[in-house]
Order: sequence, then C-alpha cells, then structure tokens
Amino acid sequence: MKDSLKQHFPIYTSSPDLAYFDTGASALKPQVVIDKIREYYSSYGVNIHRGLYEASDRATTEHDNAREIVATFINAEPEEIVFIYGTTHGLNMLATSLGQELKKGDNIVLTAWEHHANLIPWQQIAKNTGAELRFVDIDDDYQLDIEDAKKKIDSNTKIVSFGHVSNTLGSLAPAKELIALAKQVQAITIIDAAQSIVHLKTDVKKLDVDFLVFSGHKLYGPTGIGVLYGKKEKLAQLSPVMFGGDMILDVSYDSAEWNDVPYRFESGTPNIAGAIGLGAAVKFIESIGLQHIQERETKLTSYLINQLSSLPNVQIIGSSNPSKHHGVISIHIPGIHTHDIAEILNRHNVAIRVGSHCAMPLMKKLGLPGGTARFSVGMYNDEKDVDTAMTSLKEAIDIFK
Ligand code: ALA
Repeated sequence: MKDSLKQHFPIYTSSPDLAYFDTGASALKPQVVIDKIREYYSSYGVNIHRGLYEASDRATTEHDNAREIVATFINAEPEEIVFIYGTTHGLNMLATSLGQELKKGDNIVLTAWEHHANLIPWQQIAKNTGAELRFVDIDDDYQLDIEDAKKKIDSNTKIVSFGHVSNTLGSLAPAKELIALAKQVQAITIIDAAQSIVHLKTDVKKLDVDFLVFSGHKLYGPTGIGVLYGKKEKLAQLSPVMFGGDMILDVSYDSAEWNDVPYRFESGTPNIAGAIGLGAAVKFIESIGLQHIQERETKLTSYLINQLSSLPNVQIIGSSNPSKHHGVISIHIPGIHTHDIAEILNRHNVAIRVGSHCAMPLMKKLGLPGGTARFSVGMYNDEKDVDTAMTSLKEAIDIFK
C-alpha cells in the first residue's frame, strides 16, 4: 500500500482488502481531510462572522480560505461560490428561485438521464406554474442526442439544466453545445456537476455556464457541504429562498435588506467544518494532480470494461467505448437481480451500488426495472480491485446460471 494512492485513505488500514467501487455515491475520505475537520473541532470550533475574538476570527479566515480554494479550483471568483449542503440542495434552491419567474407557455429543458435531484424540483415548478418539461433524448450509444436538443430548445425555453456526467451511464453531456443552444434563446443554464467534478477539470469560465452545482462528499470531502457556483451577475439577480441570520444587511419589523452575494444565500450557521474540510479535499486533489488522477482512472476504466466484456452474459449499459465513460460503468446481467450481484460481491468486500441510482425514468426507458449494477471508480482504485470484483462477479454468474 506504501506506493499506492490508497495510503492516503485510512479506511484501507482497517479494511485492506476493500475493493471500493462506489465513489459515484460518495468518495472515501483522505487523512488530510479528516485531520482538518478534527483540527477545526478541537482547536477553534466556533461560529464565523459573529464573534470578535480569536477563535471566531480563525474560523472565519479558514472558511474564507476554503471559498477561495474552491473558487480557484473551478476558475471562479470567491464571491461566485455559495456554500450549500449538497447538489440536491443547490438544485432545489435554483428551481425554487428561478421557478418564480416561469409561467404557462415557458419550457424547461432537462435530459433523459437526470438524477431525481435535477428532475423532481423542476416537476414541482412545472406543476405550479404550468411550464412544460422537455427531455433531451439519448442515442444508441447512450450519449445525449444534440440533434434532439436542437428541437427541444426553442424560443420559449427559459431554463436548460443537465447532468454533466450521467450517474448511471458515465456519459458526458456536450456541455458547450447545449449551453450555446440555450444562449441563442437567452435561457438560463445550469450544470449538475455532481458526477463530473471529481473526474474532469471544471472551468466555469470556459463552460460559460450560469450556474453549476456539486457536492463535497463526492470530491473526497465531507458530507453536508456542497457548492453552488453562479456568475456574479446571475447570482445578483437570484432571489434568496432561505431567510434568517447572516444573509441580511438591515432588518426592521416589516422588511429586510439582503446582504451581498454570496452571503445572502447562506442564511443560518453554515457547515463550517464541512467547508473547511472541502477546502482540504481540493488541496489534496491538487497535490496528487487532477490530470494524474484522470489518467489512472481512464486506464482503469478500460481495464474494467475489458474484463467485464469478457464475462458471459454481461451487458454494459453505456457506451462500448471506454473513453466515453467518466468514472461510471453500469452492467446488466439478464436473469440475475442486481441486489443478488451486490450481495455476492459484498461477501468478497467489493462495494458497488445497484438499483435505479435515483434515475428511475431512465431505467424505465431502458427497460431495466431492477436497474443496473454500477461500478464507479476513484483515484484509489487499482487493477487488483478489478480482479477481486471479477472473481466475485464470476461466482455470482455461476451461482445464478
Ligand atoms: N447520487 C449518488 C449516486 O449516484 C448518491 O450514487
């Protein structure tokens, strides 16, 4: 383990034979992140922006630093970073706020592969306002069909919101093309980067997207913290939907004046340890090198897909081209329930996610009521993990054949 990236993750000390293939659900936590959170709670664990004393100053400074680290990571400005609880929170916030402007006749364009977090909030808005929901379809190679997007995005489109990488297929959305189409009709653009942020270099300026949301825990950081990026002028136009302390400049009994961006979107005591831990996670990723991580993951994904393809009866639910998978490889084995696969893999300490992956409409569309068995990779995975998974998968196939 000494030369492996596993050495940074203490879980492998207690479970050295763990083959963890569920980074798509949550990445493992490196020691530096755990240490940084412990340091906050043990040395200066108090509130930010409130106390005129040393510990509070330090907490505020560390929290501000984390905002800067995250901003630099995605090529944004610190005031464009809103700390939220996670992707689901951010997408709900955007839908609730932007939804106030929508009316009958407007449409919202999503894709066929959305996670429920980027679907149900918009369904609610559509129900309440009469706006129409449209879904860009996928093609035979499980990629988004840009020709279909050209038909779905029209002059009545107000919002285009899409998962950057499908959490089920591993496919990457053609973000630039979708954003260009949205811009032609002045629609607001939103990227759900929950699955892409950990695998791909994210540059919000190059993407030219209005809003982008991701969770800290899928980025080797803590749970309960996430990021809503918004272009400064777009955040300034957005109405807050959560009210309380710290988000105001002035309050009287019958009115309130909002604080500056981004603070007006951070009412209440935030997840201070979470933000600081997320900053440590980003610094950790930078110390390893995102490009190095990508190269490792690309190689491993190819190996995994080759191995899976050599097993009898295993169908890859996603492109047959490994380079079109970004951290996620889903399979279907006719005649074997996905839960049985997970159970047998678990006997060998192989952790995968099975089921509909909070993308039920996609599973129904693909005719997979039991969902898929999903392998999702992180920087720590190696060929030995894949070999362990293959041995246990062969066992499952033998038992149920
Ligand atoms: N959204 C996470 C996943 O896809 C939980 O597994």
